[in-house]
Amino acid sequence: MDAWTAGKIILLSFLLNGVGCIIPHINLPEKIDALNGSCVLINCTFDAYITKVYNFSAQVIWSTNNTQSIVLNSSMLSPNPFFKGQMLGKLSEKNCTTIFYDMRSNHSGTYKLAIINGSEKTSNMYANVTINVIESPPHPTVRLYTQKMELMQTIEVPEGSSVILRCSAKTLCSSFPPLLTWSSYPMLPYNGSSIPQENQTELISDLNFTVTPLHHRANFTCTITYQLQDKNKTAQNNFTLYVQYAPKISPSSSCKGTDVTVCFCEVHGNPSPKLIWYLSESPVSNSSCTSISEEQLDSTGFRSFFTLSCAHKANPTVLCVATNMQGSASQQFYLVPPFAQSEQKALQVLLALMVILYALTVGVALYKFKQMSTKLKAKRKAESHVPVELNASDNIYENVKI
Ligand SMILES: *[C@@H]1O[C@H](CO)[C@@H](O)[C@H](O)[C@H]1NC(C)=O
Ligand SMILES: *[C@@H]1O[C@H](CO)[C@@H](O)[C@H](O)[C@H]1NC(C)=O
Ligand SMILES: *[C@@H]1O[C@H](CO)[C@@H](O)[C@H](O)[C@H]1NC(C)=O
Ligand SMILES: *[C@@H]1O[C@H](CO)[C@@H](O)[C@H](O)[C@H]1NC(C)=O
Ligand SMILES: *[C@@H]1O[C@H](CO)[C@@H](O)[C@H](O)[C@H]1NC(C)=O
Repeated sequence: MDAWTAGKIILLSFLLNGVGCIIPHINLPEKIDALNGSCVLINCTFDAYITKVYNFSAQVIWSTNNTQSIVLNSSMLSPNPFFKGQMLGKLSEKNCTTIFYDMRSNHSGTYKLAIINGSEKTSNMYANVTINVIESPPHPTVRLYTQKMELMQTIEVPEGSSVILRCSAKTLCSSFPPLLTWSSYPMLPYNGSSIPQENQTELISDLNFTVTPLHHRANFTCTITYQLQDKNKTAQNNFTLYVQYAPKISPSSSCKGTDVTVCFCEVHGNPSPKLIWYLSESPVSNSSCTSISEEQLDSTGFRSFFTLSCAHKANPTVLCVATNMQGSASQQFYLVPPFAQSEQKALQVLLALMVILYALTVGVALYKFKQMSTKLKAKRKAESHVPVELNASDNIYENVKI
């Protein structure tokens, strides 16, 4: 501001003040909510001419609008037994902020504020405020924002997006500051942190996280707890994080059967994916040999069944491909053709027979060996007792030789 402009302002101010055109003005909220059992803080300032310094004789008087009974007087202690209040602002700072404690439902009503400047009657100021005593606190607001704090217009969020879930609640007035807390169902680790911020009228808590399919249909609850003297009062609000994600095929998907093959593919995705079956690289449709059917599992999942009831060429491949706007997934199955399966069975039987045969052979051999060794032992025993016989037998041998 240059000197010329400043000069003009001072001159203008002087003129306006001089002719009494400036009406001093009180800045008060029109309406204010107070929680039953808690205090109410009424933010108040006033505009008045700098030349009209409000002196010690200035008074702030609050009275009920209808009965005109004084509820607070800045120069008098407890003028009314039904109201406990205090001037917090300094008049010299043009601040008329006032607090009333322990508000009850019968305190609801319109109150008149008068700022009386004893010596200067013309500068007296008046304003009204309506205090509404509420039984339960208002619900917090929960909204989803982008990282740039742009409000998300859609409730469907693509997987991988970084988002901020913001809960904001009115601070109201209480002897202890209110608390904002988050919870989720199902229980999810918050991939981020809660950053409580405070300004004069609002309490804010941000949840900063990256969206995953786990967040789909998860319910986030923000709770505000007002700590009053006798009890706590809470209010909450929910947000449910619909996530768009690419299809995922469950590893349990498989093919079974010999003469008739039944394959199933279990797929999850949002939006619900489109599933196509391929038999040896050709897309499959319902026919005399092939049929496709689906079974819904939940809002985002289903099982698709593919039945192959005719003979098919050797080593066919079966492929299921699931696609939605977020991407696609596929799973390949290798079928064992029926003839190969019977061959395999025969081979298995043969193998089993061989094993049994081998076991029998070994068993018999062992038995025979045991028998022989027992006989031999018995013989040796006999020989050791009658050594003479050895010579005799030698003789026999010799005799035989002869
Ligand atoms: C008025 O006074 C109150 C209580 O001291 C204070 O919290 C508030 O910030 C003041 N307002 C302004 C506008 O200075
Ligand atoms: C207002 O209600 C409270 C109970 O909530 C009661 O104790 C008090 O006397 C009432 N005040 C008036 C002025 O009726
Ligand atoms: C949220 O988290 C990301 C990654 O941790 C970070 O880059 C970003 O600044 C955070 N945003 C806010 C608003 O805290
Ligand atoms: C109110 O809530 C606070 C914080 O959760 C807790 O510490 C306090 O014990 C509660 N008071 C009552 C009366 O329940
Ligand atoms: C195949 O037929 C079944 C009923 O037999 C039906 O439910 C299914 O939608 C059909 N599939 C195709 C791809 O037409």
